[in-house]
Amino acid sequence: MSVTQEDAARMRALAAQLGHPQGEDGLRVGETMHESNIGMTRACLAALALQADDVLLEVGHGNGAHVAECLAAAPGLRYQGLELSALMHEDAARRNAALGEAAGFAHYDGQAFPFPDACFTHAMSVNTLYFLPDPPAFLAELRRVLRPGGTLGLAFADAEFMRALPFTEHGFRLYAMEAVRDALAEAGFLPGEARRIEEQVPSKARPGTTQSRPSWVLTARTPA
Ligand SMILES: C[S@@+](CC[C@H](N)C(=O)[O-])C[C@H]1O[C@@H](n2cnc3c(N)ncnc32)[C@H](O)[C@@H]1O
Repeated sequence: MSVTQEDAARMRALAAQLGHPQGEDGLRVGETMHESNIGMTRACLAALALQADDVLLEVGHGNGAHVAECLAAAPGLRYQGLELSALMHEDAARRNAALGEAAGFAHYDGQAFPFPDACFTHAMSVNTLYFLPDPPAFLAELRRVLRPGGTLGLAFADAEFMRALPFTEHGFRLYAMEAVRDALAEAGFLPGEARRIEEQVPSKARPGTTQSRPSWVLTARTPA
């Protein structure tokens, strides 16, 4: 295999792991995702403005190293995670076992969410949009499980920045802010805020280096 073919194979494998971490490499990727993305997760949590006794769903939480920090956002807050990756589900549940009933973790097949209608006050998803085969169905599920007047936060890196990364050509869907805002409106959400953030983060493609990453945090509400 030439160096170029090897690089392409490495990038394809990295792209697959980012969308669905599995095996020993998956645990390592989970660690690097947490390191790179904790700033986006914190920005999304801040945008949700959680209050006492709220019930938060996070879809695609990765290794869950941030869940204790989430729970510190408001007294009596309950957290429910939902993951496509069995590995991330197990890793997050194990890491957060000491949190007891304040934090629950569920694994599913990426289709219908395994929750009844209107059971969460808030929902969030960080860096998952790129991997969804059917974004309108995903947004419809988020709307279904949020209570009337509930708040959704979505965080994702800007499409132009993502396009320049060497692994996103392997199956990522990229989004400009306006496209996500429009998709939310089509799913029946009321618009909230769009906040752009820019941070220096470790590069996944070139370990040992950092890069400046622009990203978006969008909030939207379900009609009361
Ligand atoms: C790039 S990682 C982001 C993890 C974490 N939110 C972060 O920003 O570091 C994407 C995560 O979303 C999960 N995922 C992908 N598609 C999903 C889906 N349809 N439902 C739930 N989780 C999904 C993957 O298993 C993976 O853990």
